[in-house]
Amino acid sequence: MYEFIQKFHSGWAYLTLLVLVIAVVNSFIGMSSKKEFTSKDRKIALFALIGTHTQLLIGLILYFVSPLGLASLGQMSDKALRLTSLEHPLINIIAITLITIGWSKHKKLTTSESKFKTFSIFYGLGLLLILSRIPWSMWF
Ligand code: HEM
Repeated sequence: MYEFIQKFHSGWAYLTLLVLVIAVVNSFIGMSSKKEFTSKDRKIALFALIGTHTQLLIGLILYFVSPLGLASLGQMSDKALRLTSLEHPLINIIAITLITIGWSKHKKLTTSESKFKTFSIFYGLGLLLILSRIPWSMWF
């Protein structure tokens, strides 16, 4: 069970980061070129939302079955364990909350410019936060 969830979380991370990067780049291009916000742009942002939410669900399960998750929460002096048991989960939950807020906000906006801008800010911040707390040395 642990190994399967761990591999799934590790593999899904590639897909999640890829679609999120595409969504952020797409919103920056849309904002700077003053393009019209189309259903293609909406779909790109939606895929990034679904990808990150799926990763959140897998991450939450992993947190309870991994020896590096909740089980290591007491060991704050160990940098690697502090990252996997506290910093990575907490910062990622904040990042995915920002991404979700960005998605909800865009629905209430009427102009293309404001939609692209909202995605650039909320998805962009979410991406930066996620990248700041990836356990890179374990992943590669
Ligand atoms: C978009 C969000 C996230 C991304 C991109 C992500 C990515 C990753 C990556 C690349 C690893 C290293 C995997 C490896 O060892 O090969 C990892 C480990 C881990 N993640 Fe996440 N993660 C995310 C969200 C979360 C969340 C929300 C939680 C918990 C609530 C979580 C819990 C964990 C745990 C406990 C580990 C260590 C697992 C182990 O090796 O036993 N992750 N994550």
